[in-house]
Order: sequence, then C-alpha cells, then structure tokens
Amino acid sequence: MIAMDSELQDKLLDLAYEARERSYSPYSNYKVGACLLAKSGRIYQGCNIENASYTPTICAERNAFFKAVYEGEREFEAIAVVATGNTPSFPCGVCRQVMAEYCEKDFLIITGNNDRSRVVVCTLDEMLPYSFGPKDLK
Ligand code: THU
Repeated sequence: MIAMDSELQDKLLDLAYEARERSYSPYSNYKVGACLLAKSGRIYQGCNIENASYTPTICAERNAFFKAVYEGEREFEAIAVVATGNTPSFPCGVCRQVMAEYCEKDFLIITGNNDRSRVVVCTLDEMLPYSFGPKDLK
C-alpha cells in the first residue's frame, strides 16, 4: 500500500462520492464518481455519462481528466474513484491509457468501496506497466 496524506486522501474520496451522485447511468445502473487532483492544487470531479448507443459512454475518470485538460492542466497528482457496489473499483484500460498520456509513473489511484471500509491505493505504473505514451513518439 502506498502512503498518501490521509486527510487529502479522504477529501478526494469525499468528492468522488459526491461526483458519483451526478452519474447518468440508466443502462448499467453502475454509478461511478471520480475526483482528480492536478499538480496545480485544483480539483476536478467527473462521473460516468452513458448513451443509448452505448459506445459514446464516457467513464468518470476520463470525464474528470478532460475537464481538467480543457482548463489547461497537464500535470496530475492523484485520482480517487468510487462506484456502486461494495468492492473498490479500478479504472478501465481506456482510462488508464488516458492517465498515461499526462501522468508520471507515481500518479496515485485511490479507490474505495461504498462504506469506505476498503480503500486501495496504487500507482499508475502498477496499473499500467510497460505503457505506451508520448515518450514513444519522440
Ligand atoms: N465506468 C467508469 O465510469 N469507469 C471505469 O473505469 C469503468 C467503467 C462506467 C462506464 C459505464 O457507464 C459503467 O461504468 C459500466 O461499465
């Protein structure tokens, strides 16, 4: 388990639970919320937004990232992710790839279950080892 200031970790999780309430997920009924901390210190929340045509659906994590990138952020510290259900929920492969576009190997992913009795913290490098990213196109 990787250490992070526990007050900050709690704050990010609180805001991820709050973001989960905004989820538009009538097809899966699986609500996801995310809270992304940029190196600037600013915070960006996101939720999953589904579509009747399914493929246009966006995950909570990418929603948060794209809001932040739109605002000019390019460097990030950590993201908290929470979903419906009693197990921690880890980012999908597509979201991990988006993280790899902007984040260092030590970018933290914090995920908790519904009642916060289980919280898992890991790095992007653990989630997506041997990643392909901007460095490969230089
Ligand atoms: N979802 C996320 O928001 N984040 C993930 O990392 C995994 C999946 C959403 C997409 C869809 O709305 C629902 O969860 C079921 O896949």
